[in-house]
Amino acid sequence: MREIVNGRFHNSLSKNNLPMNHQPVEGFSKLTKQGKIDWLVNEYLEGNTDYQNILNQYWNENADLQKLHDEFSENTISNFYMPYGIAPNFLIDGKLLALPMAVEESSVVAAAAKAAKFWIDKGGFKTTIINTKKLGHTHFIIDVESHKLQHFFNFKLKKKLFEATESITANMRNRGGGILEIKLVDKSAEMPNYYQLKASFDTVDSMGANFINSCLEQFGKTLKEQISFEESFTQEEKDSLQVVMNILSNFTPDCIVRAEVSCKIEDLKDDSGISNEEFARKFKQAVTIAEIEPFRATTHNKGIMNGVDAVVIATGNDFRATEACAHAYAARDGKYSSLTHCTTDNGIFRFWIDLPISVGVVGGLTNLHPLVKFSLALLGKPSAQELMSILAVSGLAQNFGALRSLVTTGIQKGHMKMHLFNILNQMGATEEEKQHFVTYFKDKTVTHHEVINEFNRLRAQ
Ligand code: MEV
Repeated sequence: MREIVNGRFHNSLSKNNLPMNHQPVEGFSKLTKQGKIDWLVNEYLEGNTDYQNILNQYWNENADLQKLHDEFSENTISNFYMPYGIAPNFLIDGKLLALPMAVEESSVVAAAAKAAKFWIDKGGFKTTIINTKKLGHTHFIIDVESHKLQHFFNFKLKKKLFEATESITANMRNRGGGILEIKLVDKSAEMPNYYQLKASFDTVDSMGANFINSCLEQFGKTLKEQISFEESFTQEEKDSLQVVMNILSNFTPDCIVRAEVSCKIEDLKDDSGISNEEFARKFKQAVTIAEIEPFRATTHNKGIMNGVDAVVIATGNDFRATEACAHAYAARDGKYSSLTHCTTDNGIFRFWIDLPISVGVVGGLTNLHPLVKFSLALLGKPSAQELMSILAVSGLAQNFGALRSLVTTGIQKGHMKMHLFNILNQMGATEEEKQHFVTYFKDKTVTHHEVINEFNRLRAQ
């Protein structure tokens, strides 16, 4: 039952404190796919079979492929498609690449392609891998004197942690990676008796989340075991140990790549009509504003992540992890700031990004999802480091495109041109009508209002 409380709708609760609008479901995951759909349609969609048809339309007719997709996740009832586009002409470290981009936002792929074309005859994008270290922690509580714990760690525990994880790390060590370092970190000034085992890892071509978490869970067990044997601790001290959790950190400031472009300001030709010098000056001002103003930095970095995430998704990587890391890095000095930077010294325009990003080209979806396989093949089967470079370039290119528009024509001109088809599709325009609109807006800025006016005029004829 719905009732109005303080001017807002509230679902009233039954005696057992559950809302009365729907009944909870038992064993949903055990229902067949059809059973799940029937339940949802009846319970939430008033039995309307149109909704059932929407779900059916998106099933893949190839049963094996559909099963593969179903098994990526749980309780799957359909597929959620996104456009998969290509931004060609990316000259990256001397290689010409076509970037696969999975993104729903109109104009992201077009902006990337435009930026790639802009830089192709100016030396293209150059990248440097600064470091590839990933991090994880065993977070624990123990009531002992810090120096005593440090002594135990240095002379006993550290060696045991490496030994106890030998079988887990064997494969990774054969591939050139493994655990790089383990440290004891005293955090007790921030929370009473809080310490960490902080480990760094090289996971070579994999993103390494499972590997890192397996090592850390073993650290937690070994820590408990070794403390229980340790004669220098009293029983009370031993009993105070609590291993709170063992988990990788998605903040990887030491797994970082730089991508950059540069050219003489006199070569910075922009077709909007402003001079090269004015373009360079306004562009640098826009970057500086993002460096000092968090409100602008958030949108600026969001634009960068338009480019990064689209390639992250197309290559089967975890965009939530890359987002979390990028924004944590952007705030690393205590104030949220720009991920890109620009200088215009001595007649040279230089624009770059330092992007911390942890991705893989083996494991996870990479060998399973057919489009991920396609993306990686299209990119020439890159190593994880090469993929880091490609992702940083994609973010830098996207930011270049956005700032270029913002400081010249504004973004709406290009954005609305790409959005035009969304508006027309919403209005049910025919193919012939769509063509009319492309011609109509050839030399005009698209606005929602103008599309509707022209659409009504056309239909009235
Ligand atoms: C839109 O998705 C992204 C932009 O707003 C980024 C920016 O303002 O720099 C265009």
